[in-house]
Amino acid sequence: MAVLRFPDTNQMIDNLAAIRSSLASLGIDYELWSLDRVPQDCSADDVLAAYADEIAGMKQRGGYVTADVIDVNPSTPNLDAMLARFDKEHTHDEDEVRFILAGRGIFFLHINGRVASVEVGPGDMLRVPRGTTHWFTLCEDRRIRAIRWFQDTTGWTPHYTDSGVEKGYQPLCFGPAYLGPRIGTKIDLNA
Ligand SMILES: [Fe+2]
Repeated sequence: MAVLRFPDTNQMIDNLAAIRSSLASLGIDYELWSLDRVPQDCSADDVLAAYADEIAGMKQRGGYVTADVIDVNPSTPNLDAMLARFDKEHTHDEDEVRFILAGRGIFFLHINGRVASVEVGPGDMLRVPRGTTHWFTLCEDRRIRAIRWFQDTTGWTPHYTDSGVEKGYQPLCFGPAYLGPRIGTKIDLNA
């Protein structure tokens, strides 16, 4: 499950319902999907076949036309160059939609002048609308496997804001097994 943080105010949220509603208020879809459909080491084609219903449903929701499986690990050629394309604040002309199958990473979302970090891991589905200022980094194991959806693959180009805002945020990953003290107070959604 994801970990949602607001680094500026040291708030951390790791409760599913609270993550969903907090992200929804920012225009971000978040869902926790089942991972028991396929073995961890199955092929990309097996993943696409096993999740055919979810893939079709998401295509309908967002007008996406294609889906694929991205698989990145420390032995991926030119990994640093690939990651450097996305670790500076940018936007896209289309939604960024990911269902994480393995590995962990952080989406930093810069919305309404506030930065939220969403650490995603296996089972997390995140949909970031086109035009949202954001950046992305992998956690320490530099591994991510995810289903991606596209409206138009030619639109998958980062438009950099050159704000430099990302320099003020450490890519801290807490992971699913983090048992230490939570930072600050959780957001009271009823307040
Ligand atoms: Fe992006």
